[in-house]
Amino acid sequence: MSSPQEQGFRLLTEYTNGFMLSQVLFAACELGVFDLLSEALEPLGSAAVAVRLGTSSHGTQLLLDTCVSLKLLQVETSRGKALYQNTELSSTYLVRASPKYQGNMLLYLARTTYLCWGHLAQAVRDGKNRYQEAFGVPSDELFTAIYCSGALAKEYTALYPGCRVTVFDTPDVVRAAKEHFPFLEDDRIRFWEGDFFEDPLPEAELYILARVLHDWSDGRCARLLARIRRACKPGGAVLVIESLLDADGRGPLTTQLYSLNMLVQTEGRERTPAQYLALLGPAGFRDVQYRRTGGLYDAILGRT
Ligand SMILES: C[S@@+](CC[C@H](N)C(=O)[O-])C[C@H]1O[C@@H](n2cnc3c(N)ncnc32)[C@H](O)[C@@H]1O
Repeated sequence: MSSPQEQGFRLLTEYTNGFMLSQVLFAACELGVFDLLSEALEPLGSAAVAVRLGTSSHGTQLLLDTCVSLKLLQVETSRGKALYQNTELSSTYLVRASPKYQGNMLLYLARTTYLCWGHLAQAVRDGKNRYQEAFGVPSDELFTAIYCSGALAKEYTALYPGCRVTVFDTPDVVRAAKEHFPFLEDDRIRFWEGDFFEDPLPEAELYILARVLHDWSDGRCARLLARIRRACKPGGAVLVIESLLDADGRGPLTTQLYSLNMLVQTEGRERTPAQYLALLGPAGFRDVQYRRTGGLYDAILGRT
């Protein structure tokens, strides 16, 4: 039985080492460990993995065994030799051929978000994001954002066969979407390019703002929502998909981390239900309701 002080120190060590866990996951994805093991006809030893990936034998061995401890790989021993294969977790989310593949998002986090987090203390000091400092260029959410919006549109049209969806995004994003994900557009899903703060918005019955408002200050959210309210057909609504903070802002932890993520990367924040109500009400939406889903993202609906 450990003392409270020892337990406290163990917790501190867990927090201290947290970034190492992410890096193991990011590195294994970037190197193609999970794809290789998925394509192999049988479980592979670490020497074979190292040869096929062109990596060092020592580093590969360490990475594979750490992935086993993280339940990203499983190992079996045959004639004294350790053989590795994917777990269900990695097969589902970390293999490129899987429909639930998350690797692009992980690489985005590794190459973009992680660098901004290295400047968290400075962001807390002055309340400004670190995008420019980390990259010398303005924010770029390109590929994951396109893919997520397109995937949402696909699911929506599958659920509601009669409906048509317009995916509205900036010209750069729409161009890239058409080039890299042409299969997202079909006879019921179209892309529309523009600046949602300035350009005319397509008329619609339902506007879905998924992970959009959290990028922006209250002032910009108010402007966007007022524009949407004006464009919305009578009887229409706005559906906001965001991760909701608890009423006192002190949880859930994941949403608090997302809010710090907004601090280091954008001008926005995650918000409480009351804060969304304070944005939607003055923009002209009434009967505002919210639903916590128990998942990462929640729903807020405002009607015209
Ligand atoms: C955090 S992403 C969310 C994308 C997607 N809805 C999702 O849930 O993954 C924010 C999106 O807003 C787009 N965006 C940012 N500023 C914009 C503007 N002024 N006009 C139109 N779209 C904009 C970005 O290009 C990006 O695709």
